[in-house]
Amino acid sequence: MKIMILGGDGYLGWPTAMHFSKQGHEVIVTDNFLKRRLEMEEGLSSLWPVPHLHRRSKVWKEVTGNDIIVEPNDLRNSRAVYKIMETYKPDAIVHYAEQPSAPYSMQGLERASLTQHNNVIGTLNLLFAMQAHCPEAHLVKLGTMGEYGTPNIDIEEGYITIDHNGRSDTLPFPKQPFSFYHLSKVHDSNNIMFCCKNWGLRSTDLNQGVVYGVHTDDTKLHPELGTSFHYDDIFGTVLNRFCVQAVVDHPLTVYGKGGQTRTFLNIRDTLKCVELAVTNPADEGEFRVFNQFTETFSVLQLAEIVKDACSGHGIDVKVDHIPNPRIEKEEHYYNPKNDKLLALGLYPLLLSDVLINEMVSEIGTAKDQVDHGVMLPRVKWRHH
Ligand SMILES: NC(=O)c1ccc[n+]([C@@H]2O[C@H](COP(=O)([O-])OP(=O)(O)OC[C@H]3O[C@@H](n4cnc5c(N)ncnc54)[C@H](O)[C@@H]3O)[C@@H](O)[C@H]2O)c1
Repeated sequence: MKIMILGGDGYLGWPTAMHFSKQGHEVIVTDNFLKRRLEMEEGLSSLWPVPHLHRRSKVWKEVTGNDIIVEPNDLRNSRAVYKIMETYKPDAIVHYAEQPSAPYSMQGLERASLTQHNNVIGTLNLLFAMQAHCPEAHLVKLGTMGEYGTPNIDIEEGYITIDHNGRSDTLPFPKQPFSFYHLSKVHDSNNIMFCCKNWGLRSTDLNQGVVYGVHTDDTKLHPELGTSFHYDDIFGTVLNRFCVQAVVDHPLTVYGKGGQTRTFLNIRDTLKCVELAVTNPADEGEFRVFNQFTETFSVLQLAEIVKDACSGHGIDVKVDHIPNPRIEKEEHYYNPKNDKLLALGLYPLLLSDVLINEMVSEIGTAKDQVDHGVMLPRVKWRHH
């Protein structure tokens, strides 16, 4: 297949590109390097330096003999998006190219606006360009489980059947997102659903949980094929941050009581899930939703898991409860479904000491690069 990865310079995009390329697919990656610019603006960086995309593509070719075509492209530039869709007419488009951080989006109007403009208008440009040049292509779009919030009922996969006043209908599952970033994903979902219905496009919305991990099979092939790794309060995700904190003797920063329960998956499973979606495409006109995660944990449970795994190495980890900067329930019901990817053959890689040890030992090699000043939360959900 001809597969285009949007956001191919990112944490998930680059490993996905290598994964499909290794399987013999024709892979084109695009990115506008927004993430690298925002990192510079915020004074943050990946724990280890990440070679630029052209360099990684060159090393990939040297190591495997396979091509990954690099096409710098900004989704906000509608003409550029039309052009690239016209040029390549991909069979599948994996869309990661968004501003991915909730705290980033909660810093104030400017960043909330950048997030929603970048994400929502970028995706809208893509939908129009697909309609014009590759209406048969399958759009695999990364959404988030945070779109649903934490309702007091089981979370279905995208839709729920409701009986109301003697009538029944299957309707989009209610969305109660946590941040302006999560809202951007909800707006995307609505736009994509509309275009599938209206124009007959086909799409799979992957409502993904929080991803953790440093390696996939391919990142290990060469030191320059690695992917980015953030542990700071803005771009870092919780388990990645806890592992860094454990390695540098920083107390694990549990926000509030830590009863906030979320969904998680290893980065290798992100690749498997995306592969399952791409190789089992949605039908014409179908807007399909998969909940993409393998496990649920509360934040406090995660901290205890990291603490236990590290004690096996003689590392004594301290867990701190710090004031919660977010507006979220710290104790709640949470039961999301993930049957659809399991039915397609996902065999989950569950969180284990082995996976934590892999992260901890890799982080240990870059221990001296850790910036201790970026791990406490600086962004509050309510400013006044
Ligand atoms: N990492 C996670 O835990 C996680 C969880 C759920 C959902 N997601 C979603 O998965 C996707 C990828 O996440 P990630 O962690 O790899 O993020 P990332 O920031 O590392 O990668 C996103 C890439 O997209 C690029 N990009 C952003 N806006 C663009 C635009 N307008 N045009 C072209 N390129 C653009 C960025 O420069 C970056 O390289 C995001 O959409 C994110 O919201 C991530």
